[in-house]
Amino acid sequence: MTEHEMTLGGPVVRPRRLRTTPALRRLVAETEVRPRQLVLPVFVREGLAEPQPISSMPGVVQHSRDSLKAAATQAAELGLGGVMLFGIPETKDPVGSGAVDPDGILNVAIADVVAEVGDALTVMSDLCLDEFTDHGHCGLVTPDGRVDNDATLAVYAEMGLAHAAAGVHMVGPSGMMDGQVGVVRAALDGAGHQDVSILAYSAKYASAFYGPFREAVDSSLQGDRRTYQQDSANAREGVREALLDVEQGADIVMVKPALAYLDVVRRVRDAVDVPVAAYNISGEYAMVEAAAAQGWIEREPAILETLGSIHRAGADVILTYWASEAARLLR
Ligand code: PBG
Repeated sequence: MTEHEMTLGGPVVRPRRLRTTPALRRLVAETEVRPRQLVLPVFVREGLAEPQPISSMPGVVQHSRDSLKAAATQAAELGLGGVMLFGIPETKDPVGSGAVDPDGILNVAIADVVAEVGDALTVMSDLCLDEFTDHGHCGLVTPDGRVDNDATLAVYAEMGLAHAAAGVHMVGPSGMMDGQVGVVRAALDGAGHQDVSILAYSAKYASAFYGPFREAVDSSLQGDRRTYQQDSANAREGVREALLDVEQGADIVMVKPALAYLDVVRRVRDAVDVPVAAYNISGEYAMVEAAAAQGWIEREPAILETLGSIHRAGADVILTYWASEAARLLR
């Protein structure tokens, strides 16, 4: 500031001017989350008659097949972009047979939801074995306990075909096996499913924030996923993973989790020319819900600020357990 400006009564350049009224702030807002960008992840559990609460995710439930249909209808009415389906089978085995069985819970749920909402919503499915294996890993495990990348790819291809046969619009390979996008793309194309798109969980990190999700899907996992999910120290590697997935035919690439990886969201957004998604995961949800329940933070503004930050970092699409509620708040 020059002496001259001061004598005339203070700074000439005053950013606060544009913050004077709500209308002015609205006028110059740089970014805005819209309901169409939000995807609601939903859990459906085989054999349930009534939806069942998930204690670590207040407000989120394991759905019955009927309550899932109702949730999907509501999501469509609210103008959401899509739903991401996770299935919880009654029985698990070492190879995750329930994942490829046409009568498996995820496959019947996809068909249920598509029959219910048609094309009003993008129906997405989690393409991974961890909910279906008794050891809880995302892939097949060798006798000496390693997760077998290439043997797993063959099962992912089959799983993609099962989801496509059930009518899914978009599959979400989330197991972090090398080559998973290419293998699923080839299998879909080979069976005439060129229109089924792929949302690739590209930069998926081994995260402590998945805790509540493990309850949500009754996970059987012992140990961790650090030989396939990424190390949280690495951002450049996340960009590399996203570029590889684009090369293999990913239609959308995703970064997960979102909040502890906003730098990765931005770097991936700058590096690719396909839409970028981010997954606002269970632990991120639980932290806000828990603090709000204590009265330590104001819940609704915290939700909108959270989603806004993910969008501002560069996410075109956000998967969030708050999707339906946020759509109401944003109306
Ligand atoms: C794995 C999968 C996970 C989540 C979605 N898909 C967790 C994991 O790797 O254990 C986490 C989602 C969340 O925490 O909300 N198929």
